[in-house]
Amino acid sequence: MSNLRPESMERITTPALAEKFIEEQVAAVRAQVGGGKVLLALSGGVDSSVVAALLIRAIGRQLVCVHVNHGLLRKGEPEQVIRVFRDELNADLVYVDAVDRFLDKLAGVSDPEEKRKIIGAEFIRVFEEEARKQEGIGFLAQGTIYPDITESVGVKAHHNVGGLPEDMKFELVEPVKLLYKDEVRVVGKALGLPDNMVYRQPFPGPGLGVRCVGAITRDRLEALREADAIVREEISKLPEVPWQYFCAIPDFQSTGIRYVDGKGERYMGWAVVVRAVNTVDAVTATVPEIPFSVLCTIRDRIIATVPGVNRVLWDVSEKPVATIEWE
Ligand code: XMP
Repeated sequence: MSNLRPESMERITTPALAEKFIEEQVAAVRAQVGGGKVLLALSGGVDSSVVAALLIRAIGRQLVCVHVNHGLLRKGEPEQVIRVFRDELNADLVYVDAVDRFLDKLAGVSDPEEKRKIIGAEFIRVFEEEARKQEGIGFLAQGTIYPDITESVGVKAHHNVGGLPEDMKFELVEPVKLLYKDEVRVVGKALGLPDNMVYRQPFPGPGLGVRCVGAITRDRLEALREADAIVREEISKLPEVPWQYFCAIPDFQSTGIRYVDGKGERYMGWAVVVRAVNTVDAVTATVPEIPFSVLCTIRDRIIATVPGVNRVLWDVSEKPVATIEWE
């Protein structure tokens, strides 16, 4: 398949067109890999999930999916990947719990680019180790989509940290590389993936790592993960859901007051930041209006249930000048 989308290629907008695309790709993948084995890094994001589901349809357990939990995923994500792919689709899924490994490497590192590099490099290392444990892999599947090919400064350009070593340069299988994001979602839906996977908002490769500002500590990361789950749950109920919405946790504490035996006592706690943005291309972004009552619900739930947090802030900064992520 060429890297250029033919002018004549119809835009995939309906389940019927998606089925046709799936049938074509199933045949193409079978012709390409024959009886060979294919390896895929399955993050649980839209693109890799759709590729996984498509390849499972085409070649079943000739596909080996590797899901690396680097400890920076959102609440419930690793569990959902295991449930959908291993339990429901009967995938050959290798789940790698690399949480300690990543967090140990990141301990004390506060520079954002250094953090990104460590996460990217460690990811490749873990993936390579798992790949070496597999026998007879001949192909590497990737969730490359058309904007990844056409845009030099796209969202994925951020986490280009190189790839597998020379002796592991497998032939690539990239069944959705001519599709735009909306088409990938239509295909994912036709493949039966759950809505919260198919319509997932963008999530950076380094995950919560770039939202746990400064040097990551386990307790602050846990507070972020819990607060983020609350923010996502409440904002996703809005009639118009923003393009991206999440939580960040800066590395400072501020004063709070709590009552012990009726007596007020000051203590230091973290502040979490609620962020929501709308954008077309992630190059500029505006901040949507969120009803104050929703912000108050988020505040109350976070303060009541997330240990160590005593303040909730709403980020009204647009891009430019603020970037979408806090790091
Ligand atoms: P910024 O913060 O640069 O984000 O305004 C623009 C978009 O890119 C995402 N982003 C990343 N994605 N790896 C990624 O895969 C990264 O390191 C990274 N940093 C930012 C961000 O979530 C937003 O959608």
